[in-house]
Amino acid sequence: MCGIVGVLGSHEAAPILVEALKRLEYRGYDSAGIATVNDGALARRRAVGKLVNLSDLLVHDPLRGKSGIGHTRWATHGAPSVKNAHPHKAGPVAVVHNGIVENYRELRAELADHGVGFVTDTDTETVALLTEQYMNEGLSPVEAAFKTIDQLQGAFALAFLFDGQDDLIVAARKGSPLAIGHGDGEMYVGSDAIALAPLTDRITYLEEGDRAVLTRTTLEIRTEAGELANREIRQIQLDRTRVDKGNHKHYMAKEIAEQPIVVAEAIRSYLPTGGDQVVLPGDDLDFAKLDRLTMVACGTAFYACLTAKYWFEQLAKMPVEVDIASEFRYREPPISDRTLALFVSQSGETADTLAALRYCEGKADKIVSVVNVPESSIARESDLALPIHAGVEIGVASTKAFTCQLSVLLMLALKAAADRGTLTDEELADHAAALRGLPTVLNAALDQNESIRQSAQRLSEARDVLFLGRGLMYPLAMEGALKLKEISYIHAEGYASGELKHGPIALIDKHMPVVVMAPRDAVFDKTVSNMQEVMARKGKVILVSDDDGIADAEDGVWSTIRMPHVHTSLAPILYSVPAQLLAYHTAVAKGTDVDQPRNLAKSVTVE
Ligand code: AGP
Repeated sequence: MCGIVGVLGSHEAAPILVEALKRLEYRGYDSAGIATVNDGALARRRAVGKLVNLSDLLVHDPLRGKSGIGHTRWATHGAPSVKNAHPHKAGPVAVVHNGIVENYRELRAELADHGVGFVTDTDTETVALLTEQYMNEGLSPVEAAFKTIDQLQGAFALAFLFDGQDDLIVAARKGSPLAIGHGDGEMYVGSDAIALAPLTDRITYLEEGDRAVLTRTTLEIRTEAGELANREIRQIQLDRTRVDKGNHKHYMAKEIAEQPIVVAEAIRSYLPTGGDQVVLPGDDLDFAKLDRLTMVACGTAFYACLTAKYWFEQLAKMPVEVDIASEFRYREPPISDRTLALFVSQSGETADTLAALRYCEGKADKIVSVVNVPESSIARESDLALPIHAGVEIGVASTKAFTCQLSVLLMLALKAAADRGTLTDEELADHAAALRGLPTVLNAALDQNESIRQSAQRLSEARDVLFLGRGLMYPLAMEGALKLKEISYIHAEGYASGELKHGPIALIDKHMPVVVMAPRDAVFDKTVSNMQEVMARKGKVILVSDDDGIADAEDGVWSTIRMPHVHTSLAPILYSVPAQLLAYHTAVAKGTDVDQPRNLAKSVTVE
């Protein structure tokens, strides 16, 4: 939810910190701040709102010093304000934090009992105050920080900086990711490798519970139990961390446009050229030995799982359960040792999904994840992590990750069908050929950008919007509604088209646009009946279909969006493009912040 960074460098730290925070801003943008050690003394600059406000402040009120920490915030405790902006400072210590200290109330009470006062509404302030207390008792900065960390419950990635200590940062991770960057006579810490990419491609990922003591030339890592730990220094592929908009106005537009390329990469990764058999890394996932598949995710990734449920059931005849992560583990569902537990997450750091994964540890036959960040916590805690190869996704609204997730999940369903013998070789070859042709039809869908933009102009005046779909298109209807509401702030709901008459049709009047996602497939006629029920009540239908569907059903609709023909199984992947572009152009028409919508963050690392 927040981004943290630290640098022990040989140049002024402030510009380096701000540049790194720019690359972390997708994680939260309610406020930003930095602290440095300058001539032995800690100093801070903080600003509410986006990072640009901090940059402006630093122009007028610069901050010197070659060691520093920085933070960009998504508010959990305490409203967005300068007072609540990180870094938080208490006496000789400043700290930045990503996560939630769940026992901060008890800690505040203990501090108050010792006469300690508070100046913020945040949980993080208790971390700085506790460390100060321990230093006042004579502990060294490192000892004081470690003793504080021992008191904390919840999720945290932390970086500490100390008065008079120009060559020391203490860092710790528990439940929130943290990476250490190795420079030449410099050392860095950041929430992810993207933040540190301009500085180094040599990265050490802290493991759960790790504490780290950094100087410019040394890194000492200890486990929660206090034992020295050796963590691998990885060479990351810098091209995977490129974050720029190219010639697009928004990251979201760039990422929508990239889909034919990255989906092709995802398909090539699991369907080697010429073969019709899906090939997974590692060779011990045999669906013939499994009775059941449980899929768990959040948000857009959850809709990818709901879509995949149809594929696994129809193609592999496999019983499937799908649940949102925040409900799953509190349901305490029975998990047998013949169940495959599958977790889908773009960031690989979503706290709800990670908690659900940990619920399945020791229960399921195997834990598999489908992620966009192979070094992420979810990937590292899986028995098998399947990368989606979408490249860095900065826009808070997930687009290319969704179509890559769907592509990988469809290929996994085909692998299951092959293992369980539920599809013939010809049917497998048919699906493989359709997947190889997917990038071409995605390009054709992108070519409809202008007609979609025109339909979006109409949507932008609506107060409420319904998305309808049936069968494989039902989860996509919900995804289309999520895209629209999260970036245009228009209330939208996705419904199974057959469900409309059981209540929601009461909402229909001439003010209600209804987006119908309906390729000319086996359930098209039923969906058209539902669509006509809407138009009979003056509802305004935007029909998204192919030539045959539009020819059959366009009479009376408000507008149409024409999609190329595609293999039935692949329709949800293809029709994601109009869903994404409808949301994008509606948000642009409304002037909302497309890449950093209000109240949201890209990676939700708190429960
Ligand atoms: C999608 O557009 C949203 N930003 C959000 O629902 C997201 O899909 C969800 O938070 C899950 O994130 P993850 O894939 O990184 O786990």
